[in-house]
Amino acid sequence: MSRNFFYITTPVYYVNARPHLGHAYTTVFADILARYHRLNCKRVFFLTGIDEHGAKIEEAAKRAGKKPKKFCDEQNAVFKKIWKLFNISNDGFIRTSSASHKKAVSLVLKTLLDNGFIYKGVYEGLYCEGCEQYKNERDLIGGKCPDHQKEPVLMKEESYMFKLSVFGEKLKKIINNDKLKIRPLEKKKEVLSFLSGGLNDISISRKNVKWGVSLPFDKFSTVYVWLDAFLNYLTGIGWNGDLKNLPNFWPPDVQLMAKDILRVHSSIWPALLLALKIPLPKIIFAHGFFTLNGQKMSKSLGNVIWPEELAGKFGIDGARYLLISSLVYGADGDLSLEKLAEKYNADLANGLGNFTARVLTLGSQIGKIKIYGLDKNIGKKIKEVKKNTDKNIKELKIQEALAEIWRLIAFGDGEINKTEPWKIKDSERKARVLFNLIILLKSVAELLKPFIPQTTEKILKSMKISGKTINIKKGEILFPRI
Ligand code: MSP
Repeated sequence: MSRNFFYITTPVYYVNARPHLGHAYTTVFADILARYHRLNCKRVFFLTGIDEHGAKIEEAAKRAGKKPKKFCDEQNAVFKKIWKLFNISNDGFIRTSSASHKKAVSLVLKTLLDNGFIYKGVYEGLYCEGCEQYKNERDLIGGKCPDHQKEPVLMKEESYMFKLSVFGEKLKKIINNDKLKIRPLEKKKEVLSFLSGGLNDISISRKNVKWGVSLPFDKFSTVYVWLDAFLNYLTGIGWNGDLKNLPNFWPPDVQLMAKDILRVHSSIWPALLLALKIPLPKIIFAHGFFTLNGQKMSKSLGNVIWPEELAGKFGIDGARYLLISSLVYGADGDLSLEKLAEKYNADLANGLGNFTARVLTLGSQIGKIKIYGLDKNIGKKIKEVKKNTDKNIKELKIQEALAEIWRLIAFGDGEINKTEPWKIKDSERKARVLFNLIILLKSVAELLKPFIPQTTEKILKSMKISGKTINIKKGEILFPRI
């Protein structure tokens, strides 16, 4: 039975650095889905947040000459400021250093121990601090972690282990039969092939990391940061660790992330839920990765565009649009400021901006337009685009949804060129043609609401329906050319 809730999550982002375009992409993506489902009358909970514990953050705080808590408080403010700037409509923001989260993590550890899923052992392996993950030789390229370009360090320590190995077969089955959907399908295949290699038990405690949640049964160790982090998806909607009392919004309808963290999310995360007998998320969706000018985005390489820079240059909605239209479903994408500026000019200044200006300018010359019936072919086109857009959004093909809406804009431009309203002498016919154009623009704006909310509000404010007429006002320039 389909329920009226929609619960969507982003990863909790590490606070060792401020948010960059990759984080902004996932968060804007989630925001669009949240807004879309709210507009379609679902009860939505959209959760994002920050991942504050572990060696990497401890290290970053030290470099900044600050206590971890103070460092994280400052980063918390930075993340919140950027999401506000980007008009992110999250319902919750979880900090893994919050007392309520830590308490629930502690309870979960106790439950896992009591139920025999945790045992004491010695763990020896290569550890990449960038990923906060143990690595197998086969994961490395030239001895280095491919994501962080660093050699992992050999670690051997007494630690508590989680019996991940017992869940391998079950997970394979559940993912194979889509009880837990991994999307896109190529990613599902990758996950299944990874699971076929079998899963090893994992170490879930660290002796030398102080900045974390202490184990309830060994106060000299802290819990492995990923285990701590995963539980945010539950504590972020108010779960206190009581297995008999799961929040209403549980389970997530969509968990968004990039491909970098898909493996852990399709092994350790669902295994943890199975061990706790908590229902699994419905969809885990991994999008691709951005590179900048063909290279990994990296602060040390000086190869970054910060989200606020993008917004400064292209406006908030411009930045939202450019981000979302840059990654095709499941694929990676390369950005450059030149390409973004070109796209901005083509799609926003010339595309949406120009179409809006044309329609509103023509419409405002009459001012008041009677409400007519829509021309058949126009009504049909609007319906078709709406149907395709809905389908794409539901399939998480968000860039394709935008492309579909841009087809309606092109169609609208075509209608203006075809009908040449400025040449029409018959005032009744002219009003009828303009009415159709106004409805086309209105439909474009309605469809774009979740994507570029400030802009669509401006467009819709320019057309007020009162009684049997629409009043048209000429608007401001939406996207000045760059
Ligand atoms: N803290 C963990 C996640 C724990 S979730 C239980 C983590 N944090 S992170 O700060 O590294 O964020 C990773 C996520 O940021 C990616 O999965 C993706 O959502 C986003 N991106 C970071 N860099 C990215 C790109 N270059 N391109 C696209 N998205 C990327 O991992």
